[in-house]
Amino acid sequence: MSDEAKSVTSKEVTDEDIALDLTLRPKKLSEFIGQSANKEQLRIFIEAAKKRNEALDHVLLSGPPGLGKTTLANIIATELGVNIRPTSGPAIERQGDLAAILTNLEPGDVLFIDEIHRLPKTVEEILYPAMEDFKIDIVIGKGPAARTVRLDLPKFTLVGATTRMGLMSAPLLSRFGVSIRLEYYPLEDMREIVMRSAKILGVDVDDEGCTEIARRSRGTPRVGNRLLRRVRDFAQVEADNVINREVAVRALQLLQVDDAGLDVIDRAVLEVVVSKFSGGPVGLKTLAAAVGEEPDTIEEVHEPFLMMLGFLKRTPRGRVATPRAYEHLGKETGGLDTPLF
Ligand SMILES: Nc1ncnc2c1ncn2[C@@H]1O[C@H](COP(=O)(O)OP(=O)(O)OP(=O)(O)O)[C@@H](O)[C@H]1O
Ligand SMILES: [Mg+2]
Repeated sequence: MSDEAKSVTSKEVTDEDIALDLTLRPKKLSEFIGQSANKEQLRIFIEAAKKRNEALDHVLLSGPPGLGKTTLANIIATELGVNIRPTSGPAIERQGDLAAILTNLEPGDVLFIDEIHRLPKTVEEILYPAMEDFKIDIVIGKGPAARTVRLDLPKFTLVGATTRMGLMSAPLLSRFGVSIRLEYYPLEDMREIVMRSAKILGVDVDDEGCTEIARRSRGTPRVGNRLLRRVRDFAQVEADNVINREVAVRALQLLQVDDAGLDVIDRAVLEVVVSKFSGGPVGLKTLAAAVGEEPDTIEEVHEPFLMMLGFLKRTPRGRVATPRAYEHLGKETGGLDTPLF
């Protein structure tokens, strides 16, 4: 399997991705495409907080990788006209690390904790009173001389982002006043996103070329941007810099992204369930081992997309391929209308 094909859905964010993300990242709510119900909610809350001259309620952003959580966190701070202090769950190892960040905030600031589901338990505990009462208790000294000092914090807004809301504890979840769940983008929105990126990058792409890229971007802006960049490279070498339908199709074939937007790993997942395990059920770990990927990546990146397309189902006994998956792979279901459960 080529690295090119793999990196289209790779969870790994390369330096190139970071640079691309920064160039293409919408800065204002009005530039953020799609997710209209979520945007409307945010717009109203932001406006209300500004009118009352108060910090915005804590916001949790959840959803699969690449759908715009970090982008939205930055937009929230920009729209509020405050600073954003970015950090991440795994980066905060001790209570003291978080205390240092919290006590350095300015009133109204946005504290952005990415991958908040990976915050250590002990750190999470001091976050509760900070979120609720804007106070933290810190222990000074050691042994019998140790004492607890309560510090007042400025009123701030915590924006948490997570790809795994299911791993978050109930007490933490309950302290967010606003919860925004990002969903995969429909084709129309993806088209708009790819067109916008093409304009910014100065790429010459026609309507049909744009549709082809958008259709195979698995409803994910980051994937759309990555594909656009790859197709542009192809067009530069092979097609006089112009991306039309034919050029897009040829480039995407080369990248091994199929008609439904499945990449090599998505297809490998389906192949394994269908061919090695007679359609399932098969457990996540067994499946991941057979595909040669991390279980986390299968669960976070590949399965949600395959389930959205109706190719795969999660059952209590494991993963099951649907008749649609057989159809997509061009295989017979073995005379059964429904797969074996
Ligand atoms: N609604 C949108 N409109 C336009 N571009 C978008 C939108 N959402 C995301 N993007 C683009 O996709 C890129 C990836 O988005 P972002 O980094 O915010 O995703 P994420 O949800 O934080 O992903 P991860 O879970 O991997 O951290 C951004 O740089 C931006 O260019
Ligand atoms: Mg992010």
